Amino acid sequence: MSDSTRMVLHAFAALADLGEEIAETSDFEEMVRSALHVVLGAMGIRRGAVAEFDREHDALHFVAARGYDEELARDFSLTPRQHTSKGNGNGAGSLTHALQDFARVEHEVHDRFAGAGVEVVTPLVVRGELVGVILLGGKASGESFTQEDRELARALGRHVGVGLHNHRLLREVARRAEENQRLYESLKGSYNDTVRAFAAAIDCKDKYTQGHSERVGKYSEIIAREMGWKDEEVEAIAIGGYLHDVGKLVVDREIINAPYRIDAKQSSELNRHPAAGYEILRPINHPFADIPLMARYHHERPDGRGYPEGLTDEQIPAGAKIVSLADSFDAMTTDRPYRRRRTFDEVVADFRRNAGRQFATPVVLALCRALLKEARGETRPRQMMRLLGRDYVEERTLPALEQLIADLESGPHTTVMQA
Ligand SMILES: [Fe+2]
Repeated sequence: MSDSTRMVLHAFAALADLGEEIAETSDFEEMVRSALHVVLGAMGIRRGAVAEFDREHDALHFVAARGYDEELARDFSLTPRQHTSKGNGNGAGSLTHALQDFARVEHEVHDRFAGAGVEVVTPLVVRGELVGVILLGGKASGESFTQEDRELARALGRHVGVGLHNHRLLREVARRAEENQRLYESLKGSYNDTVRAFAAAIDCKDKYTQGHSERVGKYSEIIAREMGWKDEEVEAIAIGGYLHDVGKLVVDREIINAPYRIDAKQSSELNRHPAAGYEILRPINHPFADIPLMARYHHERPDGRGYPEGLTDEQIPAGAKIVSLADSFDAMTTDRPYRRRRTFDEVVADFRRNAGRQFATPVVLALCRALLKEARGETRPRQMMRLLGRDYVEERTLPALEQLIADLESGPHTTVMQA
């Protein structure tokens, strides 16, 4: 085997390896430079350049050049086509298109590089599409390019072309993924806006509990985070909190706004709201599946004495248990027309009495821990302290809170609860 044949075979192997690497985005230009180096070395040529053809913008983008003036080997747009159409736009062309494109590119390259020593322009065609060109000039031997040289350049160029093509596909995939992500974010944004608008509508109907839904959303979020829920589960529980009382939209305004304790009949009317909320939320395609259930079961109790179905502890979905406590906590800590809000001492006493009965113990524990951390300034921002108002949680009640946490931790009901 002659030296030149060995060199060419070596070049083919090297280019096949490089072709795969070119596809990876990180060192794209470096890889193309190496590929050009291999081609020039194998063929004994002094000058060369690799340019990518951008069909959409009808431009040539130089990725690597050697031996040519830097000013020349710069990206440029082709002279606008006169009679031919710009193609089908999606980049996949027939071979005729590729040949037409190449004829134009070749013509312009010769124009631009006139006198700069471009002797051969080799098309890089992949799947009937011109993806770029290789410019070559100046054989080390001083001879002019033969037909064999041109064919060899074409064959070597095929590897470089596949690399360029794959790289382009990867770029396209990355671009689409980014676009999808943006689309998803904007959809999620409008979903969240809708949820907020709903929450505001619910709270509007109840003039005594302004901002209740919003606060329940916040408390639920804080509890779930304290319980170690994942980010998307925390996002879901916040929405469950915002929407838990959506069923109140179908309850008579007089009952919701009664400035006195309501009677049994009114109470049974009011108690329709969890089931009504479920019916409202069920047809909506939520990003998180459990949201309608949070509305439906936010008045259930672990001891089975809740409504509408009287479920027991393990039957109640975890999200509903959290929203339930958040809901009651906000009710206890805000003024109503017929009563003042409770002191924090009283709230702690209520938690002690009702953990495992009205409220799931792990949920009470999580809320207490989160409150303690905020009160001690261990977490920022202090969202609950802001919602409860300054000085609501007094320093002197912290030992009672700590004691409750310790008792619940050592109690029998502290099984780990996950979403
Ligand atoms: Fe409710």
